[in-house]
Amino acid sequence: MCSAKALDGTTTFIAMENNLKTKTPAESAVEMREMVMPTDTNKHGTIFGGKIMSWIDIAAAMAAERHCNNPVVTAHISDIDFISPINVGYHVSIKASVNYVGTSSMIVGVRVDSENPYTGDKKKTTKAYVTFVAIDEAGRPREVPRLKPESSDEKRRFENAKARSHSKKTLSQKLKN
Ligand SMILES: CC(C)(COP(=O)(O)OP(=O)(O)OC[C@H]1O[C@@H](n2cnc3c(N)ncnc32)[C@H](O)[C@@H]1OP(=O)(O)O)[C@@H](O)C(=O)NCCC(=O)NCCS
Repeated sequence: MCSAKALDGTTTFIAMENNLKTKTPAESAVEMREMVMPTDTNKHGTIFGGKIMSWIDIAAAMAAERHCNNPVVTAHISDIDFISPINVGYHVSIKASVNYVGTSSMIVGVRVDSENPYTGDKKKTTKAYVTFVAIDEAGRPREVPRLKPESSDEKRRFENAKARSHSKKTLSQKLKN
């Protein structure tokens, strides 16, 4: 166990020693539920995209922190698709699970579904992939536990995230040249 000052210098956090044991995606998966309030809506009376992005970032950060048991920062968000709008008063489920890990980075897949609370009808509304980096007391990247996908869905997500990460690196390199 160790402690450190938070980045604003006002609080301290306790960071667990990272024994780098292998973990499954299920061990850190998160489901958050919200309700769309009038203040969350845009001029069309449906949810503001930035509100969904904020919930995605929070749910994904919780999954990443549960995986590595350390503070994390958001490094990258990719492939965010807004598939269908969500009406005011609807319930929202935000599911996040770690899909892939590098040395210090973790790619978290997030799926957002809406639910009409009166009929129970559910719709897929948004999906995104968020990359977090675990940091030490000085804000430097620190190693995270390996990921062991077990189910067929977990294995598919692992391979897809690996390919997405690889193609991002290849494109970045190509654009630099
Ligand atoms: C994320 C951050 C810690 C990375 O630090 P860095 O010194 O550039 O780290 P490195 O280049 O050594 O990369 C460390 C890891 O992060 C990954 N990474 C860094 N930037 C990335 C990006 N934009 N997209 C995807 N992965 C990224 C690297 O691929 C590497 O992964 P690996 O260890 O699994 O191989 C640093 O850029 C940072 O603090 N950014 C600001 C974060 C922030 O303020 N977020 C918003 C609020 S939480």
